[in-house]
Amino acid sequence: MKAETILENKPELELLISRVTEYAENHEKKERFAHSVRTAETCVKLCRRFGLNERKGYFVGIAHDICKECDDMQLVSLAVKDGLPISELERTKISLLHGRAAAILLKEEFNIKDDDIIEAVRYHTFGKAGMGSLAKILYVADKIEPGRKHITRGYLEKIEEISLDELVLFVLSENISYLKAHDKKIAPSSKEFLESLVS
Ligand SMILES: [Fe+2]
Ligand SMILES: [Fe+2]
Repeated sequence: MKAETILENKPELELLISRVTEYAENHEKKERFAHSVRTAETCVKLCRRFGLNERKGYFVGIAHDICKECDDMQLVSLAVKDGLPISELERTKISLLHGRAAAILLKEEFNIKDDDIIEAVRYHTFGKAGMGSLAKILYVADKIEPGRKHITRGYLEKIEEISLDELVLFVLSENISYLKAHDKKIAPSSKEFLESLVS
């Protein structure tokens, strides 16, 4: 039996969505919570377009930033539980651990065992080569939700009919160009993600 069986169960998933929504609302500033709702709605649209479970899409969108306002101590103590090393970039900016920390919180506090959900939340900031479709959708939705300033009608028209990988490539390339233009470091994981999509 697959670990995620529980989340194919509709009432169970709906209950988890309402619990995590309440948690997000209580632990995120108003503006951030509004971003989470828009990200969740964007995930739903993308899941519909690419044939994935829309409610799982909503769940990852509403849950992805639940640790964004944790302090550094909390972030580190949660994130290290995934057993992955803390990179140089994460060390210089501890808030970058918020996806990894949220993935652990979802496991511990909400008993989430669905690998696709955990992967999506864990890697939503940098992306990761080889990640699955739900994770790709969250990665994109977080960056193109309608509250983001660069999302114009023209932008949305450009991405209307392309495949999921083309969409990820478009958003990721743009993100990397933005970081370069602002003299910011690019995570090795994002570079590998990019290479995996162009090779
Ligand atoms: Fe985030
Ligand atoms: Fe976000």
